[in-house]
Amino acid sequence: MDRIMIHGGKPLAGEVHISGSKNSTLPILAATLMTSEPCTVHHVPNLSDVRFMLDILKYLGAEVSQLDKNTLRIQAREVKDVAPYDLVRKMRASVCLLGPLIARLKRCKVSVPGGCVIGPRPIDLHIKGLNSLGTNITLEEGYVVSNSGELQGTTLSLGGRHGSTVLGTDNVMMAATLARGTTVIEHAACEPEVIDLANFLNSMGARITGHGTSSIQVEGVDRLKGSEYRIIPDRIEAGTFLVAGAITQGDVMVKDVIPQHLQAILRLFENAGFAVESGDDSVRICCNGTTQAQDFATSPYPGFPTDMQAQAMTLMCVTPGMSVVTERVFPDRFMHVAELQRMGAQIEMETATAVIKGVDHLSAAPVMASDLRASAALIIAGLVAHGDTEVLRVYHIDRGYEHMDKKLRTLGARIERIHES
Ligand code: EPZ
Repeated sequence: MDRIMIHGGKPLAGEVHISGSKNSTLPILAATLMTSEPCTVHHVPNLSDVRFMLDILKYLGAEVSQLDKNTLRIQAREVKDVAPYDLVRKMRASVCLLGPLIARLKRCKVSVPGGCVIGPRPIDLHIKGLNSLGTNITLEEGYVVSNSGELQGTTLSLGGRHGSTVLGTDNVMMAATLARGTTVIEHAACEPEVIDLANFLNSMGARITGHGTSSIQVEGVDRLKGSEYRIIPDRIEAGTFLVAGAITQGDVMVKDVIPQHLQAILRLFENAGFAVESGDDSVRICCNGTTQAQDFATSPYPGFPTDMQAQAMTLMCVTPGMSVVTERVFPDRFMHVAELQRMGAQIEMETATAVIKGVDHLSAAPVMASDLRASAALIIAGLVAHGDTEVLRVYHIDRGYEHMDKKLRTLGARIERIHES
């Protein structure tokens, strides 16, 4: 297992190009199963989660060719209806295969993805939404099994106790695309990645409107055609690198981004006293004097993203003052706290809330990555800690960040990856 060594204390400076969005790519790749025609997808990030999804698509019968390092051509002439556990278990997001398989085949058997370290990952809203369209979903021996005739459009709600569901909205939207009649999805997720999927489906001939609002309308069509599409930039990768610039008191510009997607993150930086400058497709952050810790709570888009909670908490650990971090999407998403405490962070935990007292500095330590965003937080902590921080199990990082250590080195970080068989 590879590990990463970071010699902290150096302010980062320079420009970094942001890759395509992981959380757009995964449902869009799944959606290519909905047509027998070829789809070409550009700006695909080189991530292990993307490779897992491609392995599943190939198992299901799709032909996948790499046209260049970030461009794929996928054609699913025939599609199998069973996605087995030994493939699905590697990535929870494979749940987004349900919608495409049901839409194309009207039947499927997809292993129920397990939970993960950020907490339980129920799919009750996915099942409720898909059953509203006329599927007949049952859970059998760890598989979601669906047998249905023609899907029938209807009005349904995807609201849950923690807000809407991103992949649940994706699944229902994809299934509704090939249903008879019109579907209205109330309490739909508004994330930019849901908009990106809807735009991809519309480029294939779907008739979706209202995406980006909490009410999405889908007028069913008979078939979808092949398409060529470019994935939006990854707003979480962009936010992660902006935190790296802020925490090291450097001067970092992220390029090839959509600043509108980063508003809640940029507001936190500005309220904390960092200088933020937005261009058409770039954002620059630098330190211009005193900073002050800020409270923040995660919530569905356009609120502060849960996928940035661990990274922003790390910044608050070394920002003067007290801050309260409340996790409203995944209440258990605090795996990073214990590792940050080992580095000297002062964090008190309450239910779904962390109370942080900013300290002068963190101290290097060997730390263990546990989930994708917690791993990013530990690398960020290592950038500013005194001494050499060793981050173990960096395969978590490779799931969602393309060449993170290389990109940080271009900003001047003293970071190296040690390959171990
Ligand atoms: C997507 O996961 C993202 N993953 C997650 O990013 C992200 O944290 C999450 O949305 C929230 O923004 C991908 O897009 C691949 P949800 P998803 O369904 O769709 C509850 C990362 O680090 N819920 O929106 O699985 C659920 O427990 C990953 O890139 C139900 O109760 O998340 C949670 O509390 C991590 N029933 C809340 O809704 C359901 O049927 C939001 O979950 C489904 C969800």
